[in-house]
Amino acid sequence: MKNIKDQENLSQKKVLLRLDLNVPLRSGFITDETRIDKIIPIIKFLIKKGSKIIIISHVGRPKGQINKILSLKPICKSLEKKINKKIHLLDENIFELKKEDLFKNSQDEIVFLENIRFYKEEEKNDASFAKHLASFAELYVNDAFSCSHRSHASISKITEFLPSYAGLQLETEINALKKVTTEIKKPITCIIGGSKILTKIDIIKNLIPKFDNIIIVGGMANNIINYKGYNIGKSVKEVNCEKAIKEIFETSKNLSCDIIFPEDVLVGKSLSDNSKVKELKDIKDDDLILDIGPKTIQKIKDIIKISKTVLWNGPAGYFENPNFAHGSYEIAKAIIKKNKEDSIYSVIGGGDTIALINQLNVIEEFNFVSTAGGAFLEYLEGKELPGIRALNQNV
Ligand code: 3PG
Repeated sequence: MKNIKDQENLSQKKVLLRLDLNVPLRSGFITDETRIDKIIPIIKFLIKKGSKIIIISHVGRPKGQINKILSLKPICKSLEKKINKKIHLLDENIFELKKEDLFKNSQDEIVFLENIRFYKEEEKNDASFAKHLASFAELYVNDAFSCSHRSHASISKITEFLPSYAGLQLETEINALKKVTTEIKKPITCIIGGSKILTKIDIIKNLIPKFDNIIIVGGMANNIINYKGYNIGKSVKEVNCEKAIKEIFETSKNLSCDIIFPEDVLVGKSLSDNSKVKELKDIKDDDLILDIGPKTIQKIKDIIKISKTVLWNGPAGYFENPNFAHGSYEIAKAIIKKNKEDSIYSVIGGGDTIALINQLNVIEEFNFVSTAGGAFLEYLEGKELPGIRALNQNV
């Protein structure tokens, strides 16, 4: 894989830069800016080299439709402030844009394309869409490790049409995860939570041979609780995942990996409600499971205590409401305590997990913080991510 930092002569070159600026937004405001902060080095690097930068990113999952709520406008504004430069957000239809339209003002150094997932061709990894994007630039840089598990046009197909390079943050993430996978110390515990259930449920099965404990919390756990025969009320759930869960339990038995899921939970009647502790058997039809309960927290703490490595991806509850943040906070505190004693290697990953850790102001207390969620887990599975494969093939 070629790295952009080794590239000479970038002056006046138009660079198509894929970033992952998929930051959490609430009513048009960014609630956590970590992913923006992490890509400042590549922007500064390219500016210093005199390149013209065309930023591509997505936010959310608009599924090929224009959705104003998922505009990149607030993200563009935040980036402008951080680098103290004007950035031109191009919200015209991409298909109508031509290379010469991008930098009409010769002073412009950076332009931003509107949410790339407004185009259905992006997720279809469409060749003519990728070719059209490629026509805007002379080279391509992927600095979006956290999207590199997606076979999408601006991540994968694009490399067939332009000389392609790894960005600075992508290299940092890969090097750190390589270290984790080669120097890992047992017992290893993986905590998986969050609400992107479908992405993660199959991954869990493939992680079983590598870990001693897999702790499933957050929206993920609802499927397991339901599979075990309990009512989960109005809680989020994935459909048709029973087969995958059955396989998870069968595989774990054969490979002596413990699967831990909540024994008790915190429920509310709505996302803004107060919390109430409930045993699984007491969950009612109008309850929403929004956090793990005290018994589960204690069990997780005991496991962390005896672990030498912990990987954590996805919050344990709906931490945006402080009434349901306790489980995640307690997990964070237990890991940090062991980190301070230098008796655990800790890696956390994922946009929501980072937002949570930032709420506690403890991001420096972990050994490595990856901006990636799904990509982080797929990398741990040992998969070659499509975005990385595409870069490796472009030599
Ligand atoms: C992420 O947040 O993990 C990346 O931005 C990828 O988003 P996705 O899961 O919607 O593809």
